[in-house]
Amino acid sequence: MSKTIGILTAGGDSPGLNAAIRGVGKAALRSDMYVLGFRDGFRGLMENRFIPLDSHALRGILTIGGTILGTSRDKPHRMPVGNQRLDMTDVMVENYHRHHLDVLVCLGGGGTQKNAYRLAQKGLNIITLPKTIDNDVAMTDSTFGFDTALGIATAAIDRLHSTAHSHHRIIVVEIMGHNTGWLALGAGIAGGADVILIPEIPYDINIIAEAIRRRSRRGSRFSIVAVSEGAISKENAAAIEDSREKLAKTSDKEERKQAKAQIKAREAYQSGSTLRMVAQLEELTGLESRITILGHLQRGGTPSAADRLLASRLGTACVQLIEENKYGVMVAACGEGFEAVPLEEIIGKRKMVPLDHPWVKTARQVGTCLGD
Ligand code: F6P
Repeated sequence: MSKTIGILTAGGDSPGLNAAIRGVGKAALRSDMYVLGFRDGFRGLMENRFIPLDSHALRGILTIGGTILGTSRDKPHRMPVGNQRLDMTDVMVENYHRHHLDVLVCLGGGGTQKNAYRLAQKGLNIITLPKTIDNDVAMTDSTFGFDTALGIATAAIDRLHSTAHSHHRIIVVEIMGHNTGWLALGAGIAGGADVILIPEIPYDINIIAEAIRRRSRRGSRFSIVAVSEGAISKENAAAIEDSREKLAKTSDKEERKQAKAQIKAREAYQSGSTLRMVAQLEELTGLESRITILGHLQRGGTPSAADRLLASRLGTACVQLIEENKYGVMVAACGEGFEAVPLEEIIGKRKMVPLDHPWVKTARQVGTCLGD
């Protein structure tokens, strides 16, 4: 055997993870490498729970949703152990060496990139792959999982249209994306939502209500409102910004504590905002309103063809990098090819929807209200 690869999947699951595991695994086996899969993200590496990923284990997984390895949101430096959260990084480093790994491949979103980088800083050879239905990992064209979730959310909006139309109702559909609006924006455009609200564009409830009333006046007595989980009102966004500025300016302990508490309280208030929005819209427009929260339906089930293809491409590209001993990088999607992006260029960054992004322009040009 030429090299030994460890692989783990961390953070929220995403369609295409198994296709990526298979891509890495099959290409590695063909290069005479040995592959170990750690269970449940970084926790499995810490607890030394693993399975050999031989050709038998990799068979038949391409089309399956979720991850055959299991996942968790546990972070190496704050690992829940009993009632405590402990820094277990050194234990992971020890287990890496115990298996004589040449590289650890970590499949995950923004949080996983950060955690993997922490291990790289401890001297481990790390390669990451970008996955998340949120599509918000920096420096990559896209992430696998996004296309599948986009299809699911769009199909849901299609279905909601006929019932909203029949009952002359507003249907507010909440779509995943706690920090970024790629999924709600993409599905909203593809599904023809009348209003799309994303975290990057704080909304004014009165502007949304007026857009819906205008539709009513023109004879469309129903509306579909596609809302990102993380969509935020202008008022709340301004209050949070204000507290953040205070926090940045002061070194006074008490003032910092106060500002942090204010941010936390505002964020907590915002997190239940979709429900409140339904009641507000009903009151402001006089139209009966309902809510549909798509939730984890968007992450489950069979990956789309595009996600299988992307995950397979990035998985096999990863093995190419291992053969070249190129470590400390993420395998980013770049056009039809890939790019090895140094981890330090990714961590702490998030790919937000730019306000002048073509999708934003498209939504506006077809007359969609973006709440601003
Ligand atoms: O990170 C992807 C994501 O699906 C977000 O859009 C969502 O807010 C979050 O995960 C939900 O995570 P969990 O499954 O841990 O509740």
